[in-house]
Amino acid sequence: MTVTIPQANPRANYEAYREEIDAAVRRALESGRYIHGPEVEAFEREFATFLGVPHAVAVASGTEALWLALRALNVGPGDDVIAVSLTAVATVAAIVETGARPVMVDVCADDLTLDPARFAAAISPRTKVVIPVHLYGQAARLKEICAIAEKAGLAVLEDCAQAHGAACEGRAVGSWGRLGAFSFYPTKNLGAIGDGGAVVTSDPSLAERLRLLREYGWRERYVSAIHGWNSRLDELQAAILRVKLLHLTADNGRRTGIAAEYTRALAATDVIPPPTFADRTTVYHQYVVRHPQRDPLRELLAARGIGTAIHYPVPIHLQDAYRHFGAGPGSLPVTERATAELISLPIYPELSEREVKEVCEACQSAVAELAGWPEN
Ligand SMILES: Cc1ncc(COP(=O)(O)O)c(C=O)c1O
Repeated sequence: MTVTIPQANPRANYEAYREEIDAAVRRALESGRYIHGPEVEAFEREFATFLGVPHAVAVASGTEALWLALRALNVGPGDDVIAVSLTAVATVAAIVETGARPVMVDVCADDLTLDPARFAAAISPRTKVVIPVHLYGQAARLKEICAIAEKAGLAVLEDCAQAHGAACEGRAVGSWGRLGAFSFYPTKNLGAIGDGGAVVTSDPSLAERLRLLREYGWRERYVSAIHGWNSRLDELQAAILRVKLLHLTADNGRRTGIAAEYTRALAATDVIPPPTFADRTTVYHQYVVRHPQRDPLRELLAARGIGTAIHYPVPIHLQDAYRHFGAGPGSLPVTERATAELISLPIYPELSEREVKEVCEACQSAVAELAGWPEN
């Protein structure tokens, strides 16, 4: 059967705001300024205000946001950066690109974000930065992580690529650490129609350094004050992001409503829904459930036309490109067990009530069918 409800659907988000986006694109096209003009400036201001931080610096992608943030903190060869292995490759790739060594630690069994105790145990004299990842839109345990980092003299760089609008104790993610890195990849809660990213900070000197790093170290055009790079967000993407930012809170609310319906429908099954926490707000970039028979369950959902995904099939410390940084299979048991059980169900604000109901019913009937199967 062909997929009738895809796992993600960035086109639907364009269609939802088509008139406003088309008008914004036209405005940018007709302005004659295509790089670093009024749209980027306005977006940076509006995004910073949305998060409650003084500075947002737009860059070309979430990967470069992480990498430039690490460079702004002077991370390089000889340094260690603590991160998780249950994340997008970008988190670890950005560390490696600076010449620093990634130290991947395990996650908490409930929310699958950085385990504060394991982070504390991994700190060494080489450690310079810790990167908590707000996985699937769920804020990590920022209060504990920031307290441990402060005591050890480490900078916190939040990977907020999946968590635009998530919060911890009412404060937006990205505003807790020294720096927060965001991605605007099309499927993200705040997605461009192409690549984009941003780094946010309360520190004016870091913001200034990031502005230099993203454009060849230029304070004055064509004259490099420091060694920098080309990592610019373009005017078209900024104009589109400004439209989508206006709708982000409503879109996140819709994701949360869909998640609540899924959780209710799964209550009578052996599928484990994602946990929620009183002090932390998730924005459900993904709705990720766990099931011991993950692959057959995925097949049964596919047979019912329901698209699913796995975030992520292979943890970074077991991938060929990065395994030499880790201690091999069995070293991060919570992460490794999770990657064998995770399934991401369809979630995006434009899912209709009928489609949400269809996903719920498909899950219930797939689980019932699975339960009737022989054990092996
Ligand atoms: C957790 C995480 N970090 C970083 C990134 C990198 O962002 P981008 O794809 O914009 O480079 C992503 C997105 O793929 C992500 O999910």
